[in-house]
Amino acid sequence: MGFNPKDHYFHKAKEEGYLARSAYKLKEIQNKYRVIKKSDKVLDLGCAPGSWSQVVLELIGNNGFLLGIDLTPVTLIKPNAKFIAQDIFTFEHDKFEGAPYNCILSDMAPKTTGIAFTDQARSEELCLKVIELSDVVLLKGGFLVMKLFEGGGAGKVASEIKKRFEKLERFKPQATRSISKEIYVIGLRKR
Ligand SMILES: C[S@@+](CC[C@H](N)C(=O)[O-])C[C@H]1O[C@@H](n2cnc3c(N)ncnc32)[C@H](O)[C@@H]1O
Repeated sequence: MGFNPKDHYFHKAKEEGYLARSAYKLKEIQNKYRVIKKSDKVLDLGCAPGSWSQVVLELIGNNGFLLGIDLTPVTLIKPNAKFIAQDIFTFEHDKFEGAPYNCILSDMAPKTTGIAFTDQARSEELCLKVIELSDVVLLKGGFLVMKLFEGGGAGKVASEIKKRFEKLERFKPQATRSISKEIYVIGLRKR
């Protein structure tokens, strides 16, 4: 049997104690764009089961702070992290503990229907919501990383990022399954 990237990252995550293989996607993003620094305050949207949060906590160290939000509860317990089980569409602005943040991450994905058009439209809606939040809770000079299902909405999301950030990057990590339509759109340095 040939090399299977799914098994590779799945087993690597188990060996290295990460809650999901997604951890390696964030590591690739971090290696290329350096979006998180020691002592940063980070907002992790769609954080369950918690592998991105694990990577973030390693990077920010004890003096940083992480707020994670997901529909599903997260079981990680760390002194400088707080996790809230809620829908980002109904989450109130004054509840963003630790805001403003140096970096906002969103690995949120809609429940897929298998209908590409619908899934892309919902993914775009999530991204536009995150961009709206970045206006309020992201520091000037801060970074934004969001998962997006490629398709119809990519243009709108990209143009909204370009308006607000010095640079827009699009990145497909190696750890992403090759059949997946997901990419990460990254806003570097909020204006
Ligand atoms: C691919 S998983 C995230 C994996 C996570 N980054 C990790 O490394 O463990 C996508 C998550 O987005 C969450 N999600 C989707 N829509 C959401 C919403 N409206 N509000 C909050 N979380 C949402 C889902 O519950 C799901 O846990």
